[in-house]
Amino acid sequence: MERIDLGRGIKVAPVCLGAMNFGTTTDKKSSYAVLDAYIERGGNFIDTSNNYAHWAGTGDESETLLGEYLKERKNRDKLVIATKVGFDRHGEGAGLKKEQIEYWIDESLRKLGCDYIDIYYAHTDDANTPLEETMSAFDKLVRKGKVKMLGGSNYDTWRFERANNVARDINGYPFEIMQQRYAYLYAKPECAPKYAFNEYVTRERLRYLAANNVPLVAYSCLARGGFENPERLPADLIAGERLEFARNMAKEKGVSTSALIVAYYANVYRIGGPRIIPLFSSSSPEHFIENLGGLDIALTDEELAALKNA
Ligand SMILES: NC(=O)c1ccc[n+]([C@@H]2O[C@H](COP(=O)([O-])OP(=O)(O)OC[C@H]3O[C@@H](n4cnc5c(N)ncnc54)[C@H](OP(=O)(O)O)[C@@H]3O)[C@@H](O)[C@H]2O)c1
Repeated sequence: MERIDLGRGIKVAPVCLGAMNFGTTTDKKSSYAVLDAYIERGGNFIDTSNNYAHWAGTGDESETLLGEYLKERKNRDKLVIATKVGFDRHGEGAGLKKEQIEYWIDESLRKLGCDYIDIYYAHTDDANTPLEETMSAFDKLVRKGKVKMLGGSNYDTWRFERANNVARDINGYPFEIMQQRYAYLYAKPECAPKYAFNEYVTRERLRYLAANNVPLVAYSCLARGGFENPERLPADLIAGERLEFARNMAKEKGVSTSALIVAYYANVYRIGGPRIIPLFSSSSPEHFIENLGGLDIALTDEELAALKNA
């Protein structure tokens, strides 16, 4: 499998595996089966958080399961581990104050059994803490060697940019990667996101990312399986002609629409889009392997442009 060079010594597979449900709604056996299937096929980029999945447990399960997996498989050095800080977990943990960042990084390192995190994301913006405090606390983690690269998730574009301006002002490390909700389809303008933070990526944000060479790790990028089964498609997405176009192209190529969309994400940089790294998961290897197969689909620049403009 190809590697994308993100800088700071980090080279990642073009698909990231999400571990959000591992250890809660996806049991240990199934979680290990998906992890093994991904890594056997050349994957190395795994996403978790300090609060996964607190709505189905305590919030420690995903990192703890991953820590056990890394120890059992002895493969930590071959993998790129991303985790996050700043979201609520049963009334604790929300915020990006200095003390919170310092506390939660050590908790993540402990649960994962690692002495460094490759990519550490602010999980969501914290409007109640000065950006100087947050970016300075993150900067110190990189300087101490606890973290290799910083990222921002669920930030408005202008706040992401402002955080990075602050980082530059204090001569600190900026956010070098963004994680945001993006599902190829665009959001219905009349539908506000359930939470303000998880706004879908817009065309404007895509242009920002491309112009600034910031890779996008795209979550919810398979629309909950809605590319295959319209009943699963989130109601706040515009399906219409764009989805129809992708479905027809997939049919002509004899592949699933989800796999075709994965191919689109992985290649759109070739026609001037940003580097998009689709982030998805599954409760068993079956769908995951099928979707991962998108990396083997060849798309011409004309096909990419047609998908982009549909
Ligand atoms: N930064 C953030 O705020 C944030 C938010 C949410 C998630 N994330 C990250 O993103 C990762 C992915 O989460 P996600 O919300 O995007 O969801 P996801 O885990 O990718 O789930 C996709 C859903 O689609 C279904 N699916 C996939 N392929 C399918 C197919 N071919 N046919 C039918 N159903 C199919 C899966 O069902 P099956 O299980 O049956 O395959 C699953 O229910 C998480 O693990 C987490 O790491 C980050």
